[in-house]
Amino acid sequence: MSLQTLSEWLRCPVCFSALSPQEPLMVTCDAGHSYDVNKRGFITLLRSRGLIGDSAEMLAARDAFLGAGWYASLREAVTRVVASESPLTVVDIGCGTGYYLGGVLDQVPAARALAVDISPAAVSRTVRNVDRTDGLVANVWSPLPIKDGAADVILNVFAPRNAAEFARVLRPDGLLVVVIPQPSHLRELREAGRALGVQEDKAAVLISGLAEYFAVHSRQQLSAEVWLTESEITALVGMGPSAHHQSAADDLREDADDLTVDRHPVTTSFEVFGFRRLSR
Ligand SMILES: C[S@@+](CC[C@H](N)C(=O)[O-])C[C@H]1O[C@@H](n2cnc3c(N)ncnc32)[C@H](O)[C@@H]1O
Ligand SMILES: [Zn+2]
Repeated sequence: MSLQTLSEWLRCPVCFSALSPQEPLMVTCDAGHSYDVNKRGFITLLRSRGLIGDSAEMLAARDAFLGAGWYASLREAVTRVVASESPLTVVDIGCGTGYYLGGVLDQVPAARALAVDISPAAVSRTVRNVDRTDGLVANVWSPLPIKDGAADVILNVFAPRNAAEFARVLRPDGLLVVVIPQPSHLRELREAGRALGVQEDKAAVLISGLAEYFAVHSRQQLSAEVWLTESEITALVGMGPSAHHQSAADDLREDADDLTVDRHPVTTSFEVFGFRRLSR
């Protein structure tokens, strides 16, 4: 990231005018509002405090799980949809560890990205791990401090959505790529009372929730049976708040080297949507 590239994405969260870089680590608008940029290379523009998002421990568990490759085919499918647009700008909203954004940018060398999450630990991890990426801590439920039309593609993987703001931030005719779980996702774990259910009509609710601004352009279902160790299951279902995630991440790395450890079948099932922004 550079202060210049970071500021190019942004608008002032108070007056919505453009933000300009002020060396060494600040951005300011013409009305005199100013914001510090973190030394770790991202900016926090939250209007209200209190929402925290995923902790560093939760991200470590997710990173270890994703790093084992269990969702690699999903990452490839997401990357194909994004790469087919040849975007120059990608905004990942709810970026988490940056796993999907990293896959995309590897395959789209001309693109730059903005990684957005409400969790500072998530944004920090993503800008550290993914090249050509600036970082923004912001709340998707507030007006986003991102300029109109800044994104050729918005990526939104298992994360909250704001249809009106996504439509504003996406350029006309841009693509919104959304991943949601299907009802059979983690079926065995749900039957064992270890995972929450997925709403039966989640896809229909997604489509109708976006319909004012977006039309379905493509959709692809991906299902697989994966064989997971107990620690991998803990990391997978334990991505919510818990004190034990760091040890979950450590256990997971140990299991990866142990061929004798028991494994259990788990269904994974996702749907990858491309939504075209409607012209207004
Ligand atoms: C289930 S995780 C998915 C992360 C990543 N896309 C992935 O699939 O690995 C959801 C992400 O959304 C973020 N999030 C939750 N509420 C949010 C909000 N109101 N605004 C922005 N991000 C939010 C969380 O911090 C978390 O990183
Ligand atoms: Zn301002």
